[in-house]
Amino acid sequence: MDIFDVLTSDHEKVKKILEQMEQTTPRAAKRRETLLENLSANFLPHAYAEEQYFYQILLDESSDKEVAYQALEEHRAAKAVLMDLEEAPSDDPRWSARLKVLKELIEHHIEEEETTVFDLARSLMDEDRATEAAHRFKELKKEAPAHAI
Ligand SMILES: [Fe+2]
Ligand SMILES: [Fe+2]
Repeated sequence: MDIFDVLTSDHEKVKKILEQMEQTTPRAAKRRETLLENLSANFLPHAYAEEQYFYQILLDESSDKEVAYQALEEHRAAKAVLMDLEEAPSDDPRWSARLKVLKELIEHHIEEEETTVFDLARSLMDEDRATEAAHRFKELKKEAPAHAI
């Protein structure tokens, strides 16, 4: 398993949780709460380890730093909406509205990562390095703060 497999597998989990959240109704308060906790528990450590490690490789070694900077701004935007979502009561119309925005942001971001960002990172890593990077990434996820701020 290399870093690209690990990232893709995390992405699948996050996308699945977002789909499940979208299918809930305002009456399903407990389920919304559980899914939101699950989303944060998966998305935040992933984003943290990408910021601390994966994107640092691109910033240090790639000639095209714009790709990494844009992705990092997408993280900031997603985390801000995630925090707003955590603050909205689950039966408030804003909960669904914020979820929709968050889902669009994250899905767009994941698509960019799995195409443009992965292409760039693959150009900097051979298979050994990509495998080693997977271990480092998983270790860093364990060190991630439990909340966005
Ligand atoms: Fe990612
Ligand atoms: Fe990301």
